[in-house]
Amino acid sequence: MAQSTVVKTLGISGSLRKGSYNTAALRAAVELVPDGMSLEIADISQIPLYNDDVRQAGYPPVVQKFREQIAAADALLFASPEYNYSVSGVLKNAIDWLSRFTPQPFAGKPMAVFGASGGPLGTARSQYHLRQMMIFLDGRFVNKPEVMIGAAPSKFADGKFNDEVGSKLLTDLGASLVLAVRQSKAAATVK
Ligand SMILES: Cc1cc2nc3c(=O)[nH]c(=O)nc-3n(C[C@H](O)[C@H](O)[C@H](O)COP(=O)(O)O)c2cc1C
Repeated sequence: MAQSTVVKTLGISGSLRKGSYNTAALRAAVELVPDGMSLEIADISQIPLYNDDVRQAGYPPVVQKFREQIAAADALLFASPEYNYSVSGVLKNAIDWLSRFTPQPFAGKPMAVFGASGGPLGTARSQYHLRQMMIFLDGRFVNKPEVMIGAAPSKFADGKFNDEVGSKLLTDLGASLVLAVRQSKAAATVK
């Protein structure tokens, strides 16, 4: 892959609420992307609760659209809230739907995660659960930097992320993802 090619990234927030810190940080990340990266945010709000009977009758169009968005993306960026020490049900549900497709769309896909919460750990436990899920689904998470936005209410104003350290980390996380995509594409061309 030419170094000048833009790494198309799909952002996925695990929170549906309007005032979500995670979605606000993801929106900020759109503005903070490093050179060589673009970021579009997926809308997963209409994905129904997983039901295998429904799946066998035919994937809902909204799920198919999400699959196509993931397939078209070079990389994924998750904004993962922490619900009861894990990922939100909304995010888990979306991943469960996608995981049933063949080919399985997360396999081999470069991905990164960050999260925001009111507590001091900034969604650390949620992020590690997401990483654990993606072991089974063969997603390729970048390891560093870890972006855990704790004490979130103090880092957002008027729905906007305004933390300088966190903003730099989001840019650095994007750069790490760009590098991972380029390395993975370069490796794929080696015979
Ligand atoms: C059902 C539920 C469970 C939660 N569990 C945790 C938790 O385990 N750890 C944590 O730090 N915050 C927890 N919180 C607080 C969320 O981190 C906080 O509501 C955060 O703002 C949610 O993300 P959002 O702003 O993107 O919607 C929980 C909130 C809800 C609604």
